[in-house]
Amino acid sequence: MTIRSVILGAGCYLPQRILTNAELAKMVDTSDEWIVQRTGIHQRRIAAAGEVTSDLALHAARAALADAKVDPKSIDLIVLGTSTPDNTFPATAVSVQAGLGITQGAAFDIQAVCSGFVYGLSIVDALLRTGAHKRALLIGAETFSRILDWTDRTTCVLFGDGAGAVVLEAQEQPGAMTDRGVLTTHLRSDGQHKNKLYVDGGPSSTQTVGHLRMIGKEVFRHAVAMITDVVEDAFKATGASAKTIDWFVPHQANKRIIDGSVHKLGIDPAKVVITVDRHGNTSAASIPLALCEGIADGRIKRGDLVLLEAMGGGFTWGAALVRM
Ligand code: ACO
Repeated sequence: MTIRSVILGAGCYLPQRILTNAELAKMVDTSDEWIVQRTGIHQRRIAAAGEVTSDLALHAARAALADAKVDPKSIDLIVLGTSTPDNTFPATAVSVQAGLGITQGAAFDIQAVCSGFVYGLSIVDALLRTGAHKRALLIGAETFSRILDWTDRTTCVLFGDGAGAVVLEAQEQPGAMTDRGVLTTHLRSDGQHKNKLYVDGGPSSTQTVGHLRMIGKEVFRHAVAMITDVVEDAFKATGASAKTIDWFVPHQANKRIIDGSVHKLGIDPAKVVITVDRHGNTSAASIPLALCEGIADGRIKRGDLVLLEAMGGGFTWGAALVRM
């Protein structure tokens, strides 16, 4: 027998306000046609004035707890992936903890940009498998609208706000590929690429929040190779393959990056969960949002083998295989 981190439930939250490509075309020199053709994005959600990352995260966390049918008081670990925290400190995770009325266990944020959820999954899985924690909330929550330069058409059309969460529990499983839970996680980073996608501000450098800056072509050039490489690692570690997975839930940055990865990996496009068309890139929130949608609409079922993958600023990237 072995301990596995089993997903008990998932929840998500999107702010009400929808920002369409047509509206963006009135703000910067762009068009619906350009955005759809280059990215696959039609619209994204924008947090309301005063609505902060922890508000989005709390909604998603409550939905995940309800889906899992567990009492918040039984949670002893909260890990929240975000690059848009409410404040420089304390961690946004402790605001979620307070909002849920939890006073036990540990709560902290992790910063791996768009890879935040896969990084978080790896950390939570490790902490549950040691026996140090029993039941965890893993959240990806972002308000990227707050760090966009709304005069820069090369970046402001790409991102959106949202949050997704899962409840994970340490459970004894036989130790086979048929086990429920996280079967493998693989994390990578290469700081040589740190200036290709970054925010030009911070507490220690400018004492300002700053705006997102990106050399889009450079991100695009590396994305498919990095994603497919780390997915191959996950396949090698488990013996799984493009044929044996039931669902692929990729980070939703850009439809062309997803299509390129799917093609290179030989995954059936019918197995891919896509939300980028309606959510844009919600960074650390994109995978749990897509996972939640796939579960809620009945596509992803108990026992399904799900491949997750992310790549983002740093660069950071990673992959995971999870049996639901
Ligand atoms: N509307 C109209 N024209 C635009 C826009 C826009 N929103 N943005 C850029 N352009 C123009 C450029 O100025 C350029 O004009 P020029 O030829 O006169 O100089 C032209 O379009 C082509 O620009 P490119 O940057 O070469 O366009 P490209 O085909 O590379 O597409 C894009 C740009 C969509 C950003 C692409 O590079 C990309 O997808 N990169 C990946 C970036 C990404 O997804 N980042 C998300 C964060 S990272 C992550 O999560 C993985």
